[in-house]
Amino acid sequence: MCGIVGFVGIDKASSVLLEGLSKLEYRGYDSAGVAVIDKDHINVIKCKGRLANLEKKLESHPLNGCVGIGHTRWATHGEPSDINAHPHSNADGTISVVHNGIIENYVELRNELKAKGYKFVSETDTEVIPQLIDYFYDGDLVDAVMKAASKLQGSYAIGVICSKEPGKLVAARKDSPLVVGVGKGEYFIASDIPALLNHTRDVYFLNDNEFVVMDNSGVKILDENKKEIKRDIYHVTWNANAAEKGGYDHFMAKEIHEQPKAIKDTMTSRIMKGKPVTLDNISLTKEQIDNIDKIYIVACGTAYHAGVVGKYAIEKLARIPVEVDVASEFRYREPIINKKTLMIIISQSGETADTLAALREAKAKGARVIAVTNVVGSTVSRETDDVLYTWAGPEIAVASTKAYVTQLIVMYTLALFFAQNKGTLSDSEIENLKAEMLTLPEKAEQVLENEDVVKDFASKNYAESDMFYIGRGLDYAVAMEGSLKLKEVSYIHSEAYAGGELKHGPIALIEKGTVVIAGATQQKLVEKMISNIKEVTTRGAKVLAFALEGSKEVKDVVDSVIYVPKVIDVFAPVLSVIPLQLLAYYMAIKKGCDVDKPRNLAKSVTVE
Ligand code: F6R
Repeated sequence: MCGIVGFVGIDKASSVLLEGLSKLEYRGYDSAGVAVIDKDHINVIKCKGRLANLEKKLESHPLNGCVGIGHTRWATHGEPSDINAHPHSNADGTISVVHNGIIENYVELRNELKAKGYKFVSETDTEVIPQLIDYFYDGDLVDAVMKAASKLQGSYAIGVICSKEPGKLVAARKDSPLVVGVGKGEYFIASDIPALLNHTRDVYFLNDNEFVVMDNSGVKILDENKKEIKRDIYHVTWNANAAEKGGYDHFMAKEIHEQPKAIKDTMTSRIMKGKPVTLDNISLTKEQIDNIDKIYIVACGTAYHAGVVGKYAIEKLARIPVEVDVASEFRYREPIINKKTLMIIISQSGETADTLAALREAKAKGARVIAVTNVVGSTVSRETDDVLYTWAGPEIAVASTKAYVTQLIVMYTLALFFAQNKGTLSDSEIENLKAEMLTLPEKAEQVLENEDVVKDFASKNYAESDMFYIGRGLDYAVAMEGSLKLKEVSYIHSEAYAGGELKHGPIALIEKGTVVIAGATQQKLVEKMISNIKEVTTRGAKVLAFALEGSKEVKDVVDSVIYVPKVIDVFAPVLSVIPLQLLAYYMAIKKGCDVDKPRNLAKSVTVE
């Protein structure tokens, strides 16, 4: 996820672009840049770090010109650096491009262009775009952009300028957001509305595979055949703050709703029908996998909970023994690590001190380490040879939501990859599991459509001071995450217990009216879970269950049920965690808590 802006007008473009980018920093903030046309050439200023660095650089290198593009980056391909920052240009600097999205076939395109003599300077997927436009350019920028776009696979919102057509800006979109702002004699593009609101409230929304051409005379929206499309102007009435959160009241709500897309993006190019499961550039041979005698998954908090699901998935599908540990414990318990150990580190931020220490310990003892992180260029990503990114985009709310579900997707990908290589599952079993995984974005969307059931439950129960979460198998793993979310954002005390463990002590705390959230998505365990639910209802507990659609037996023994779409047991956590995230969110809202910045917590825990 990155933010792009573009401007054509009479004011100084660089100031308008900077101001627009400042409203998009929530989309990425590891580097930023602008390109502005000055008479007959393009000046590009870009640098690593926050927008403030770019502002500083622009003070000493002011840019003239009224047509330009800008970018704030959330690195995906290539670490955050001056070179990898956008805009990217062709060799003679006559074409510059900003891009939000991922070009899936960039390696192929890069190789084709290299064979034609093109040279690349960055590690980004984006750099193929200006080079391709250059290749097709024959005096008409719109034509060249259209031809280049027809070669791109993946997602993109792009803004393009060309010094040979100095008054013009061309933009295009597919599967990445882009809006067009229409002012008085000035026109804009942006990834999101807040970047425009200081200039105009009149916008066009673009659809996939549409192009935009703007110059001083106005804006045209074109289809793939260059035919003009008439579009009604939309007048924005929300305030800038709400718009930055995509119309949601809080980043946490926005991020919960972004999960279907985050799940889809994280599977991209790894889980595909009819193709083997791949782990990006990680080379792990069958022999190396057969040689692994133990996997440790080490992480903290929510990432640890994703690791618990990872253990179930890897042991079930690939039959390799897995231990999961919280990082702060792992490093001091003298774990048995050797060259046959594989360690998987999970960290959204990639900066958590305890997780980093565990990584270093394992490396020092000769273990191979795979890092799963959401932040390109983070310390974790730099200190391991093998990194699998979760493509969740920046997570702003302190409570982790979309990072967790994408961590689950990476855990399943690893489990399937190991199973495929070890032969613990047949080709058709793997194909079935992949097909099921590919349904998860749509099913997650369906779960979100039932949000009102959770909201209603929250509004009736937010005054509780203690709650329990119970589950068996993977439902227990999800219960732990649900309980953590509730504590973090609503400050309600809660505990997660394995369903069968309750009677060994904690059941003493159940009394009339105690709220218990019970997971019952695991088909083989539903009967056992029903017994555990009855143990608490007979003692007066009020139970909200989460179960798979069609599972009627649960409904009869609880007060309310949230159904999630039917799915193979092992993947249920991706769906069942969503109502629990929403529950924590709505309980916190009803209590008036600051959900995005809960007390005492920080997004990145860099102390031991
Ligand atoms: C909970 C939460 C924390 C983090 C934990 C690890 O919502 O966000 O529990 O999961 O601090 O952080 P990372 O994943 O950045 O290592």
